[in-house]
Amino acid sequence: MRNKITIIGAGNVGATAAHWAATRGLGDVVLLDVVEGVPQGKALDLLQSGPVDGFSYSVKGSNDYKDSADSDVVIITAGLARKPGMSRDDLLAKNVAIVKSCAEEAVKHSPDCVLIVVTNPIDAMVYTAFKVSGLPENRVVGMAGVLDSARYRTFLAETLGVSPKDVNAMVMGIHGDNMLPLVRLANVAGVPVTDLLSEDELDKIVFRTQKGGMEIVNHLKTGSAYYTPGLAAIEMAEAILHDSKRVLPCAAYLKGEFGISGCFLGVPVVLGENGVERIVEFALTALEKEALLESETAVRKQMEETGL
Ligand code: LAC
Repeated sequence: MRNKITIIGAGNVGATAAHWAATRGLGDVVLLDVVEGVPQGKALDLLQSGPVDGFSYSVKGSNDYKDSADSDVVIITAGLARKPGMSRDDLLAKNVAIVKSCAEEAVKHSPDCVLIVVTNPIDAMVYTAFKVSGLPENRVVGMAGVLDSARYRTFLAETLGVSPKDVNAMVMGIHGDNMLPLVRLANVAGVPVTDLLSEDELDKIVFRTQKGGMEIVNHLKTGSAYYTPGLAAIEMAEAILHDSKRVLPCAAYLKGEFGISGCFLGVPVVLGENGVERIVEFALTALEKEALLESETAVRKQMEETGL
């Protein structure tokens, strides 16, 4: 059986996700957008890389949700991106309407899919998709922790002068300024980073991680990051499609885990064929708990603003 992945939104994040999906051989890819021609053109261009890259799956661009029918995974990237001076929250009102329609249409045609939400502000958009899609909470998940943790690992690796592959580190909480890069648990091949770096160095890395998205927006000026956001979504899709039980930080619906209920927040989860199969709960220190509650407060404010 061939897997099918639909990516909604053929902008930078969507098209890049399609690229990663094709080169990783995840399955047949549908790139969907409301703008006529753009998904078709990008998909055709990507399809034509198949003979060179060596992938055998189809890549199809479309403006019609019918083409997304029976997808195993649907990734929502559609929406406005940030420009310099804009917070992720500034996008909320416009992107609620977009994500609402994407999620409703997607489940009409793929009632058994797992929905991965990438549109910002992610924690509120994944809540929006959950509310309108009618899917069970395990089948709706937000991308953010994989991206933020990748940035955190990159900065740690650069400072330490080691391969980022050997840096294990996780960011929990909101995809916003209140995100929580966990210092206590970060390590290089098992060695705690707190034994290798000074408090000052670690503070700088944590701060840069929290502002990681804005650093790129300020360089680009016309939009936000897309290579790593696109790949992070595909890393999650791959874990789901291969039922690999990867443990990845994702925005998942909490029902009492970490003492929080009724909202989506970045936590480590087991990803498999049923989407979020389990939340990996562990004891936080008092300071970590406090930081996670700050994330929760910020997410709840966004949730209210969705009006759902
Ligand atoms: C970022 C945007 C995608 O963090 O939120 O780069």
